[in-house]
Order: sequence, then structure tokens, then C-alpha cells
Amino acid sequence: MDDGGVIGKMLHMSPAIPSKMKLGIVLGTRPEIIKMAPVVRECQRRRMDFFVLHTGQHYSYSMDKVFFNDLELPGAEHNLEVGSGTHGVQTGKILSGTEKVFMDERPNVVLVQGDTNTVMAAALSATKLGIKVGHVEAGLRSFDRSMPEEINRIIADHISDYLFAPTEASRRYLADEGITNGVFVTGNTIVDAVFQAKDIAARRSNVLNDLGLRPKDYILATAHRAENVDNRTRLEGMIEGMRKAGDELGMEVLFPMHPRTVGRVKEFDLSLDGIRVIEPVGFLDFLSLESNAGLILSDSGGVQEEACILGIPCVTLRDNTERPETIEVGANMLAGAEPQKILSAAKAMAGRQGWENPFGDGTASRQILDAII
Ligand code: UD1
Ligand code: UDP
Repeated sequence: MDDGGVIGKMLHMSPAIPSKMKLGIVLGTRPEIIKMAPVVRECQRRRMDFFVLHTGQHYSYSMDKVFFNDLELPGAEHNLEVGSGTHGVQTGKILSGTEKVFMDERPNVVLVQGDTNTVMAAALSATKLGIKVGHVEAGLRSFDRSMPEEINRIIADHISDYLFAPTEASRRYLADEGITNGVFVTGNTIVDAVFQAKDIAARRSNVLNDLGLRPKDYILATAHRAENVDNRTRLEGMIEGMRKAGDELGMEVLFPMHPRTVGRVKEFDLSLDGIRVIEPVGFLDFLSLESNAGLILSDSGGVQEEACILGIPCVTLRDNTERPETIEVGANMLAGAEPQKILSAAKAMAGRQGWENPFGDGTASRQILDAII
């Protein structure tokens, strides 16, 4: 397995005592690849017996392979290539596909990360085979069951044996639902990922030059949540809010657009005048865009966390968040999808700085492996 790249060298490859356990690492979408990367790295460092199972929920180059390249990850041993589909079809394919791989590979523990259909289905197939499940990023709650992610994370938490909660607040949410055994507060692996890649991004990414952007002179925007972009009124409102914020703050709005959103903008025939839309970019370029942005507008979970970790103010284009820590430290504000609210929040947040990162010290992946070994 290749472990000699820049990130590998940075992690001081040292011989570790081999463990007898076999670990299955499941991922399927962009944020799972990014947030599992430090766990894969730590498995390599410890010379562990592990395999990576990619469900193929995300498959376009810019949503999948670019992250394996940027993060110098070994290719997945298994790819189910489930692709896109309705919840039932996608979840069903992941359920049967992961079951087959788990029956062949017989891991002792399966790790899943986050709240996607990949997570819920893989956790379910593993637990039904009597394989222990570890949920990375356990205990997040938006208390909004209309979000598919809320259903996925509740189910995953309730069938997991190891629950890796990023913060004490997540531990409390789990306790409120009666889950107290196997809970470890580790921080979020996104901190590990950002720490491991930030300097490399600063050295290697040329994205600001390529796009002709000046630091602190633009707003970085993303939006992809189904409850936002599949709703014409909300999507139109968010785009209008981005436009207003850009005009008022005198900043260009750069919007690397998720494929779901591209589809909806076309379907609803919405105007993107005044917004600079680009294809989604790789992790190093995105980190560089985030680190240099004057303000971030987003409905993404991972982007809320990264903005907070990098010290960049964020306005969240949602009515709720399962990352309340970002609001409590003053790094983030909820604005929903109405243009006027987005504008007010953007004006209130622009220029804010100086909070503590609540998501840990960048050792989450180590703590996770210590706990399961
Ligand atoms: C999924 C997750 C969401 C997560 C997001 C991360 C679920 C229910 N949703 O949402 O929680 O925040 O990933 O980005 O698990 N498409 C492509 N190429 C791809 C992938 C998707 O073109 O590589 C397009 C397809 O038209 C597809 C649409 O995007 O129908 C949505 O993809 P899907 O995986 O269903 O959900 P996401 O919106 O990506
Ligand atoms: N991201 C990226 N390129 C982009 C947009 C986002 O690399 O063009 C990364 C970002 O750094 C974060 C992750 O994608 O780590 C967030 O994924 P997404 O917003 O798709 O999902 P969520 O976190 O909301 O589940």
C-alpha cells in the first residue's frame, strides 16, 4: 500500500505493533472520503489489516476520485458502484452490496462516518451479520426529521457498538436517547484532515491565481441539501441572498456547485446572474478557497465545521444545524433561505474572527483506533 506521499511523510511513518483485528472502512460520498482519510492514514501508520469499501454513492471525478488523489489515499479494495437513485433503491443496493463484501471479508469492526445513505445501510448490514459497528461523528442532531440525514444518523447511532462523538454536546444528545455504552468523545476527524492538508494546500494549490481572486475579497458559497435545493422557493431565495450579500459587501460570490444543485437550477430555470459558478473543486483547492474567503455562505455540514476551524466567518443557509458548537463560539449564524435574512446575517458576520475551534485537537483518528483496538 502506498504510504510514501507528502501527507504520509508528514505523519512520521513509524513501525507500530500489528493488531490481529481486521477493520472495514466504509465510505461513499465526498465528505466521507475527506473525513475518513485521516483514519485510513492512521491504519496505514499502524500497519493494520484493513480494507476500504466504497459504495459508489458519489462517482463523478469531482465528487470522488479527486479526493483520493488530493489526499493520497490508496484505491478502495471494493467499489459497489451503486450510483444515484431514490432513497429506497440506493439504500437497498448498499445494504445488499455491503453485506456480500462483509461476508467475504469478515472484518471484526466496520467503521462508518457521518449521516449519508451509505452510513445507515452499511451499519445495518454489518450489525445484522454480528459485526461490530463504529460510528464516526456520532450524536449529531438537527432535531429535524424531514432531513434524510437525521434519520440516517439516528439509526446509525442506535445500532452502533462504538460511538465516536466529536464533542461533549454530541455525547449528551446520545445520553438523552439512552445511549451511554461505547461512547468516546474524540473530536471530529475533519480537524485531523484540515491540519494534515492545510499547509500542503497553501503550498500546492494555485486556485486563487487561477481564478484571479484576492484574499478576503470574495464570498465562497455552497449549497446542496435536498430540503434546500430541491425546493424552488428556497433555492431561488438562497441564490438571491448570495447575490445581495455580494453586492452589499462588495465581494464577488464564488459558487462551486454540487451536481444536485446544478440539476435543480436547470430544472427550475433559475438565473445565476451576478454569481460566479464553477465545478466542485478538490479538497486542497477548496481548503485554499475557504482559508482566503472573506465570508462563507453554505448549507453544508462539513463546510460549517471547516470555516470554524479555519477562523473564517460563516452564514448557514438553513433553519437549524446539528453543529450548534459553531454558533456558540461565534463562528456561524443561521439565516435560512430568505434573501433579506441572508443579507443581514452576512453583514453581521463579515469581519468576525477570534474564536476557539470546538471540534478537537486533530487526534480524533488516533483516538478512534485506540478505542477499537
Ligand atoms: C449526499 C448525502 C448528503 C451529503 C451529500 C454530500 C444522502 C441521503 N445524502 O447527498 O447527506 O451531504 O451527499 O455531498 O445520503 N450526482 C452526480 N455525481 C455524483 C453524485 C451525485 O452527478 O458523483 C448527482 C446525481 O444527479 C444525483 C444527485 O447528484 O441524483 C444527488 O446525489 P445523492 O448521492 O443522491 O445525494 P447528494 O445530494 O449528493
Ligand atoms: N468540498 C470540496 N470541494 C467543493 C465543495 C466542498 O472539497 O467544491 C469539501 C469540503 O471541504 C468539505 C466537504 O466537501 O470537507 C463537505 O461536503 P458536502 O458539503 O458535500 O457534504 P456535507 O458535509 O454537508 O455532508
